[in-house]
Amino acid sequence: MSRLVVVSNRVGVPDRKDRGAQGGLAVAMYAALRRHSGVWFGWSGEVSEHPGAASFREADGFTIATIDLTPDDYDEYYNGYANRSLWPLFHNRMGHTAYDRLYDRGYFRVNARFAHAMAPHLREGDLIWVHDYHLIACAEELRRMGTSNRIGFFLHIPFPPADLLLTLSSHEALVRGLFAYDLVGFQTEADVRAFRDYVVNEAGGVLHGDGSLEAFGRTIRTGAFPIGLDLDEFRALAASPEASRQERRMHRSLAGRKMMIAVDRLDYTKGVDNRFLAFERLLADYPEHHGNLLLLQIAPPSRGEVPEYEAMRGEVEHVCGRINGRFAHVDWVPIRYVNRGYPRRTLGGLFRAAHVGLVTPLKDGMNLVAKEFAAAQTEEDPGVLVLSRFAGAARELEGAVIVNPYDPAVLMDAMQRALNMPLGERRERRDAMSAALRRNTVADWRDRFVSALRETPRTLLGGG
Ligand code: G6P
Repeated sequence: MSRLVVVSNRVGVPDRKDRGAQGGLAVAMYAALRRHSGVWFGWSGEVSEHPGAASFREADGFTIATIDLTPDDYDEYYNGYANRSLWPLFHNRMGHTAYDRLYDRGYFRVNARFAHAMAPHLREGDLIWVHDYHLIACAEELRRMGTSNRIGFFLHIPFPPADLLLTLSSHEALVRGLFAYDLVGFQTEADVRAFRDYVVNEAGGVLHGDGSLEAFGRTIRTGAFPIGLDLDEFRALAASPEASRQERRMHRSLAGRKMMIAVDRLDYTKGVDNRFLAFERLLADYPEHHGNLLLLQIAPPSRGEVPEYEAMRGEVEHVCGRINGRFAHVDWVPIRYVNRGYPRRTLGGLFRAAHVGLVTPLKDGMNLVAKEFAAAQTEEDPGVLVLSRFAGAARELEGAVIVNPYDPAVLMDAMQRALNMPLGERRERRDAMSAALRRNTVADWRDRFVSALRETPRTLLGGG
């Protein structure tokens, strides 16, 4: 069987236990590769003046190969183009988007560096699978170097509408870069449509009857491959002795109060401030919650050197402080705001102790926290998931209470409804979500993508 070579900026270091901080990609790819031989190639997380060649180590059945970034790479490629240009723009946050030529150049330079560092280690027949917005241009460089292997790309975040993408001077170079792959996968059909729309209407491409797309002298296949969860693994974690200990501990600390939980990297796409504002309204409109309900917000800081993140952190802290100051009593604080990540088994226990899970991003590719919350719920006394319609997960988790996270009144109503939902309805919703999670696990996702890549018609291969 051909070897799978996965490439992503962030690699999931197995001994890193802070789920909240890691982000969906690392968690999912680790689950996808575990017990499945292959190589995972990415950034070591280190910055050094003289990065040198890739270093290798063995993980849970696969090999991790990493390279360091130089300080300029880190500023221009990671903090710059990836996280100040592509990330905000692809999440519809034009106001947060930086337009800087230095960032563009850094991005394409580092993408080429990844390609050069991995090329000597590639074998004929390897299936190469590149992930996420950091490394869009990687395959084009591999093709330039003569690599004719099948190369697939999966975008973990949303693909933006053409009008937004067109604001980037490098829009054409990026999309041309995607045409160096054989298969380009997205989280949802909406993302596929946005991509096709750009290709057909802005790049003069052609959508063929079999769904393939032709532009820039190549024909590629595209499709929606919504990412899943290792359901059995997460259920086992949530039922582990450690998770049960955390659950009991939380119940003791709640002392009969109800709890809503939210777990997000501290990121402006996650809608933390909107969630707090809705909670403030809930407390103002329903005084019966005073002393009887709290919101646990776990929010490990992320990308702290990017100015927009620093600013949003200040804003969230301000709103949280105001709400707590306004409503708290000496023996009750409405928002427990925690800036650290927790191991996944701890989160499993906390998810079980919660009455409501709030996953209300303004825009999100998938959001695996939503799936983890749903997976952790038991038949006996399931909590309710309140989920943003703008998260990819909303397309699958129909058992959630789906909301528009922009409107605080809508969000408040959903919280109130979830807190008062009868057991029968909670069970029905939990069962619907369990069935959806079972239909599409992370292994299904990996296998569907890898088979589609393997089945790419020979006639479309070869970088020509
Ligand atoms: C999102 C992205 C991932 C990224 C993660 C954490 O989930 O899709 O590519 O790894 O956020 O962000 P970081 O910048 O810490 O890698």
